[in-house]
Amino acid sequence: SQIYRDGVVGDRPAAPTHAAGLEEAAESAMSRRAWAYVAGGAGEGRTMRNNREAFDRWAIVPRMLTGAADRDLSRTVLGTRLPAPFALAPVGAGQLVHRDADLVTARAAAATGIPYVFTNQGGTPLEETAAAMGATPHWMQLYWSTDEGLVDSLIGRAEAAGAKALVVTLDTTVLGWRPQDLDLGSLPFARGQGIGQYTSDEHFMGLVDERVAAAAKGEPAERPKVIPSAIRSLLSIARHHPGRLRDNLRTPRPRAAVETFLETYSNPRLSWDHIATLRDRTTLPVVLKGILHPDDARRALDLGVDGIVVSNHGGRQVDSSIASLDALVRVRDAVGPDATVLMDSGIRTGADVFVALALGADAVLLGRPYMYGMAVAGQRGVEEVIANVVAELDLTMALAGVADLASITRDVLVER
Ligand code: FNR
Repeated sequence: SQIYRDGVVGDRPAAPTHAAGLEEAAESAMSRRAWAYVAGGAGEGRTMRNNREAFDRWAIVPRMLTGAADRDLSRTVLGTRLPAPFALAPVGAGQLVHRDADLVTARAAAATGIPYVFTNQGGTPLEETAAAMGATPHWMQLYWSTDEGLVDSLIGRAEAAGAKALVVTLDTTVLGWRPQDLDLGSLPFARGQGIGQYTSDEHFMGLVDERVAAAAKGEPAERPKVIPSAIRSLLSIARHHPGRLRDNLRTPRPRAAVETFLETYSNPRLSWDHIATLRDRTTLPVVLKGILHPDDARRALDLGVDGIVVSNHGGRQVDSSIASLDALVRVRDAVGPDATVLMDSGIRTGADVFVALALGADAVLLGRPYMYGMAVAGQRGVEEVIANVVAELDLTMALAGVADLASITRDVLVER
């Protein structure tokens, strides 16, 4: 009820409280480029719709007179204490929304105590973002580079900066088909947005220097064998719709760092064998993000992975993908009650968090909503979005008659 008290005696909120209103306000506050990138999804947007519609298929059945006046929203996941059962998802190229997106997010996380999963594609070096977290824990997300030395370098930096877990994202070995971005020409990364993390990495800059040195000597620099297929798609569009990408192609060759980034940031050949090497490469708990099939979930856990995030990347990778919430049900059934299973994609409200927990998530990640809060009101906007989700979850628990997270089981729901 703090939120209502604040409403009576405090200021009006800086960002709309209702999810749809927040989205609308964010669209007005953002550039066309930023909106396309952040709000956009794969293909026709079916996966994004599936993610939301899945929540419409479940209904909470509140219980009365249970005395749930004192509620505990906290939970510890892989050694990290969450004051409420969610954390902030990794969001790359956030500079499209705010020059210091990573730092702004970290400060809001620190102010609210909600942990933050740093993106690999940050504009700010992870060491600086970590310093802005104060006592609030953070995890580090990793895209698996084609350069194994860079993988080790990023893991080493994450460990040194105090990350409490390593989250390896599996679903972005190539970038999905994203018409909103394609229509606007080059991707944010092709303009250098979201690569600050890399250009602050010694190993990465070593790769760049080698190429520059080779070019200076007139030797062809060794090129990676795999051209990311996103680039291939852009080139193909350029061929077939020359007008659309003309501006992109006219721009001078991007800096060597950007090119090296595009060639090395993710490995299309990523396999279970790579994941198996992690045990010897880090002491941190390892979480695999982007699992949708129960068999993949089982295999991950059999391999000794500490946890998984059921996710379809907010509907940004495969169009017509299974809703993340539907996948969660199947995955939890497959792995049993003890495995650590997080979930994201489509969470917009505290009631959504409640439903996801009832369907088997230990905790969830929040993606776009906090970026929308940032677009509308900077750090304060992010803090409000966080506070709203916590407050609504808390009220939902009070009104549904549950006093703690363990009591949010499938029994509190019916399928509509
Ligand atoms: C993402 N996501 C993401 N995931 C990841 O592992 N590394 C990354 O760098 C990014 N970057 C990124 C950028 C933007 C603009 C968005 C919207 C998302 C995916 C993210 O972590 C999360 O899975 C989804 O955002 C969850 O879905 P919702 O909450 O946005 O529906």
